[in-house]
This record gives sequence, structure tokens and C-alpha cells, in this order.
Amino acid sequence: MKAIELKHPLIEHKLSILRDKHTGTKEFRELISEIAMFLCYEAMKEVELKNVTIETPIEEMKTGQLEEDRYAFVPILRAGMGMLDGVIKVVPNAKIGHIGMYRNETTFEPVNYFFKVPKGIENREVFLLDPMLATGGSAIDAIDLLKEKGVKKINFLCIIAAPEGLKAVEEKHPDVKIVCAHIDRELNENKYICPGLGDAGDRIFGTK
Ligand code: PRP
Ligand code: URA
Repeated sequence: MKAIELKHPLIEHKLSILRDKHTGTKEFRELISEIAMFLCYEAMKEVELKNVTIETPIEEMKTGQLEEDRYAFVPILRAGMGMLDGVIKVVPNAKIGHIGMYRNETTFEPVNYFFKVPKGIENREVFLLDPMLATGGSAIDAIDLLKEKGVKKINFLCIIAAPEGLKAVEEKHPDVKIVCAHIDRELNENKYICPGLGDAGDRIFGTK
């Protein structure tokens, strides 16, 4: 499945502030959350609604409603937590799981340190959240863990993706829909995305 990139002036505007090294923690967090809402909006474009009949103040009408208990959001810790409040505004009753991953700073390999997902997650469509898709190692391992749990439908929502990481995830998990705000140029020798936005976790949590 080919990754979807949000192409919209509002997104480019928000990304330009997010990427700026002078942007502080508060504004950075707000922007991550807002862009996550747009990613969720795009990723859920084709979900099926259940048919319901409601009454407007004027008349009865048939319409569609989301079955919120069919979905789960799973942020990859830490940085994915920054996207959670945005997507939860869109689907407030979705269940939430957590996957803890960090990249080993010398090998760049992901290390999984936590995994807790809602009971019955195999019956839900899952939206994995992580602002950065760099080598793709963390995304691939997180998707592996969800598939081992029996999850059949997985979407990966990220803010910035590197072409190298996209290729790796698309090759290993061609069934996963990836929605990103922007596909950047390349990875540098430290596997950081260029031009990127730096270390997403550190900027969200103010740890550096
Ligand atoms: C960052 C990011 C992704 C990962 C992407 O997390 O949030 O999880 O790196 O890199 P990859 O595609 O090469 O695996 P990091 O390891 O910095 O952990 P943190 O979120 O706790 O800061
Ligand atoms: N993780 C980040 O936070 N930023 C990058 O550019 C790559 C991995």
C-alpha cells in the first residue's frame, strides 16, 4: 500500500512552525496534537458507518454514525503520546494501548520495553501513533507485536517520514496503511530525518 502524504497549505504552515528550532515545548506539543487530528481525519476517510435514524428539530432522517468501539489508538512511547490527545478528540471512545520502544543510540535498532493493549484488540482496527518514521525499525517491530496479538487491520500515523523508513515498512508490512504529514528528503549518518524536526520525544517532553 502506498503511503498517503497530507498535501495542504495548512499542514505545510503548521509543519514550518513545528520544524523551527526556536519553537518552544508548549507550541510544539500543540502542533503535534493538531496535526495528529488531521492525520486521523485522513486515515479514517473510508471507515464504515452504521445506519441510524435520528430526529433533527425539523424532521426524521437516516444517517451514519461511527461505531467507536471498533477502534483503538496505540501510541509508541514516548513521542507517540504527543499525538494521543489530538486523535482522542476525534474518536473519544476508542480504546488505547501502549507500546514502549526506544532506538539504541549506536545500532539504531529498536528496543521494546513495554507492551499493554486493550483486551479484544484483535477485533479492533488499530491506529499506531508515532511522529517520526526514520529507519522504520520501531514501526516494523510495533506492527509485528500487534499482528502477533491477532490484529488484522493496522494504520500507521506519523508526522514526518523518511523515504528509507517508508520503503522498509511497505516491504515488510504491505497491508498497513501509512498516513504522514510530510515525506522528507533522507536520513543522515545518525539516522535522523533531514530536514526533519530533531528529536520528537525530547521536544515534546522538554528533556534536552
Ligand atoms: C523515535 C521516534 C520513533 C523512532 C523512529 O523514538 O519517536 O519511535 O525514534 O526511529 P526509527 O524509525 O529509526 O525506528 P526514540 O527512540 O527517540 O524514543 P522516544 O520516543 O522515547 O524519544
Ligand atoms: N527520531 C526522532 O525523534 N527524530 C528523527 O529524526 C529520527 C528518529
